[in-house]
Amino acid sequence: MKRVLITGGAGFVGSSLALRIRAGHPDAEILALDNLYRRGSELNRDRIVGRGVTFVMGDVRDRSAFGMAPCDLVIDAAAEPSVTAGRAGDARYVVDTNLGGTLNVLEAAREWGAAVLFISTSRVYPVELLRRIKLDRAKNRFEIAGEQEMPGAGPEGISEEFPLDGARTLYGATKFASEVMVSEYAAHFGLKTLIDRCGVIAGPWQMARADQGVTTLWVAAHHYGLPLNYIGYGGFQVRDMLHVDDLGDLVLAQLRCLDRWDGGVWNVGGGRAVSASLRELTVQARAATGRELSVGEDPAVREGDIPVYITDARRAMAEWAWRPERSVGRIMDDIACWLKDNGDRLRPILAGEVNR
Ligand SMILES: NC(=O)c1ccc[n+]([C@@H]2O[C@H](COP(=O)([O-])OP(=O)(O)OC[C@H]3O[C@@H](n4cnc5c(N)ncnc54)[C@H](O)[C@@H]3O)[C@@H](O)[C@H]2O)c1
Repeated sequence: MKRVLITGGAGFVGSSLALRIRAGHPDAEILALDNLYRRGSELNRDRIVGRGVTFVMGDVRDRSAFGMAPCDLVIDAAAEPSVTAGRAGDARYVVDTNLGGTLNVLEAAREWGAAVLFISTSRVYPVELLRRIKLDRAKNRFEIAGEQEMPGAGPEGISEEFPLDGARTLYGATKFASEVMVSEYAAHFGLKTLIDRCGVIAGPWQMARADQGVTTLWVAAHHYGLPLNYIGYGGFQVRDMLHVDDLGDLVLAQLRCLDRWDGGVWNVGGGRAVSASLRELTVQARAATGRELSVGEDPAVREGDIPVYITDARRAMAEWAWRPERSVGRIMDDIACWLKDNGDRLRPILAGEVNR
């Protein structure tokens, strides 16, 4: 592997993967393409540029942004990743970036003969179907019940067998449409592709907003001492989390087996062992920051919100001989440490978001 292009390379996931691949493949040239649309992404740009990654200012909506010399791998991690995106009238930006940007990636990859890794999301699964999953209520969290009508749902989480027919938020729809196009380019043009369909990814360097990045926001509220609410579901809502370095481990494992990139789709996440409800996250945030907050309640369920998502990543774990190693506590500690080291410059980005 000589040249790797990462779109959204100044984002949380893109910049973290850039540095992991830099470390794992010291001879490769790594390019990070980003238009710095996300507030705070300039901080990620500065951290990768100082560490051997070439930053390319450009917009994935524009095919000419891919005018660099040919690359042999493209990781598509550019997006507007909010589940509420498009509601305020910016639907065109979401579609043009998330779907149009992926089409430009695929066209460039086709021209270059490059492999493509598409970072997708569990949000491709329809909201109403996820809401129909039968739950048990434990002391501080919901659990997925043992008996389910829907395929692909069980106490271990949601597998690739879960149905895909239904509405899913504009974000989820653009990512699903991109998945379809990635598969199509693999089948018709022989592109080597993989789709990693990730649940919540968490860790340092996520420039969290009120509508995306709950794990970081939770720690930030404790760190800065800001008001916090359980919105909908009373804090019992559960997500599994994947430390961004565990995603990095997976991607490095996948890069070692490029001959097995055959258009496959993999559910990727920390699984039940690395899951927490918001109530449990509060306990963890207290431990990580040493600060206690009293959390309020707002009963209105937000559009597109769901009570539980846990990834059943057993298929990916078996295929790539990989497993998530980092616990919820470790994720929270790493975020708290990052906030302690960078508190002043992160305050304008994170502190205003917690209150919204
Ligand atoms: N963070 C998560 O929990 C999570 C979970 C599942 C999937 N994903 C996927 O991972 C990818 C990265 O997400 P993230 O959390 O790093 O988000 P992020 O917002 O931190 O990163 C996305 C980057 O894309 C850039 N960008 C936006 N529009 C662009 C455009 N038109 N041209 C060029 N760059 C543009 C932004 O400036 C930002 O730096 C996304 O595809 C998202 O769907 C993220």
